[in-house]
Amino acid sequence: MAKIFVTSKISESALDLLKSVGEVEVWESEETLNGDALFEKMKDKDAVLTMVNNFVTDDMISRASNLKIIGNCGVGYNNIDIESAEKHGVIVTNTPDVLNDATADLTWALILGIARRIVEADKFVREGKFKGWLPHLFIGNMVYGKKLGIIGMGRIGTAVCERAKGFHMEVYYYNRRRLPNEKEEALNARYMDLESLLRECDYITIHAPLNEDSYHLIGRDELNLMKKDAYLINTSRGPLIDEQALYEHLKAGKIAGAALDVYEHEPEIVEGMTELDNVILLPHIGSATYETRTKMAELAANNIANVLSGKAPITPVTK
Ligand code: DGY
Repeated sequence: MAKIFVTSKISESALDLLKSVGEVEVWESEETLNGDALFEKMKDKDAVLTMVNNFVTDDMISRASNLKIIGNCGVGYNNIDIESAEKHGVIVTNTPDVLNDATADLTWALILGIARRIVEADKFVREGKFKGWLPHLFIGNMVYGKKLGIIGMGRIGTAVCERAKGFHMEVYYYNRRRLPNEKEEALNARYMDLESLLRECDYITIHAPLNEDSYHLIGRDELNLMKKDAYLINTSRGPLIDEQALYEHLKAGKIAGAALDVYEHEPEIVEGMTELDNVILLPHIGSATYETRTKMAELAANNIANVLSGKAPITPVTK
């Protein structure tokens, strides 16, 4: 019988799928498995279902001689050495699409949250500081009618764009490949080069994958292009932003604010960032809804079940 290792608790429905094709061991602890401890668990397995914070290295892949598939429970797969997997004939899968809406919703929560200072205002009330309405209390910025800049117009970027309609925003996007005219028209979004988008937009939100090309896509120079009253939102991967440079910009008030769900050295956060009021910091919860996490686990499990029963994976990834 095939042996399957799951690096975290997942839905019963996903577990049942895995149990139909093999013997399943689940890591029940909240502590994230990595390094030797992760390798110990996966070394004799046919399949491993990983989370986005389990780093699967070339060394692990080359020594796990039975391994046939790594089913990553996440759309991002920068935690897995894809090149090594390809070299060793190990299939890698991810979970695209099922998390588009949850991540787009959270992005909007962050846009509205940072613009209207929701977290600061909530803290103020909890601290017993609310003594009555004041005309200047927690003044924020409008979202309605402003310019939204989307970096990365893939599936999640598109879902974010669709939601901008109700806010009557002018939407601009930057993407490696420009969308066909009909798609731009349907989305009511205009292509802009990155520099112009950074200079022009009021809310800039990142939805690009992490790879060699996108590392520090937003560095000090790019932050310098942003308007003083603009906001930066990131629900993709932390290393797309030079976090130290962002911290310095926020502290100096060179941009209005930022809202982050992901960090450059997750779960570490650049020193001083938590002291700032003009930033919202979330613990990587973009896809964290009951429905979405269940769908993600089921898709990861279905990929594994397919491969272990000799069928093609549903959502394979390649370098
Ligand atoms: C992903 O899927 O890549 C998210 O970051 C984890 O939910």
